[in-house]
Amino acid sequence: MPEIIRFAVPEDAQLLPAIERSAAQAFRLIDELSWLAESPPMSVERHRELIARSACWIAVDAKNRPQGFLSADRHGGDLHIYELSVLRSMQGQGLGLRLIEAAKDYARSNRLRSVTLTTFANVPWNAPFYSRIGFRIKASPDLDQRLEAILSEEYKHGFAPGSRCAMAWPVT
Ligand SMILES: CC(C)(COP(=O)(O)OP(=O)(O)OC[C@H]1O[C@@H](n2cnc3c(N)ncnc32)[C@H](O)[C@@H]1OP(=O)(O)O)[C@@H](O)C(=O)NCCC(=O)NCCS
Repeated sequence: MPEIIRFAVPEDAQLLPAIERSAAQAFRLIDELSWLAESPPMSVERHRELIARSACWIAVDAKNRPQGFLSADRHGGDLHIYELSVLRSMQGQGLGLRLIEAAKDYARSNRLRSVTLTTFANVPWNAPFYSRIGFRIKASPDLDQRLEAILSEEYKHGFAPGSRCAMAWPVT
């Protein structure tokens, strides 16, 4: 595959909202989530902020054009994935998996405890996919305050009760 995974640089930031918008078109396959295809992506400023903290990766094609990204940040011993998006036309070709492998490698080499995220429990390319690659659902009483706060913020933004879950991959 010609695509490579590299660290994001500040110049990438302005290209990432369009990738997130394209990625979100996948939610049109699910009636009750199709509104996500229209929802605003993470801002360029937020991307710049996360890129400056050095835990963001980009999948680029042979001409260095971004095809997907993973934005994360460190919280104590955890690396938290805030967003993972692959251009709609490039989905299902393994880029998402490779971006997650980059995050796992980073967590491993920085001796972190786990890689965490929140996602949809029943969307095929969300929790079921993460489960297949070693992530486990964290529910009360194992749910720490940080993840609990993220979930409750997400529900305030309109996700259906019980539709989201927090997951963690323990560094191995
Ligand atoms: C999630 C996402 C980043 C994965 O990237 P990707 O490049 O498509 O990932 P991969 O090709 O590595 O495949 C990931 C898994 O999703 C599954 N998948 C992808 N698209 C799918 C679809 N439309 N229906 C069912 N499963 C699907 C694949 O089968 C694969 O699982 P497998 O390898 O065990 O078979 C990408 O699908 C995307 O951008 N989706 C929209 C945004 C999103 O949901 N982001 C994640 C938020 S937590």
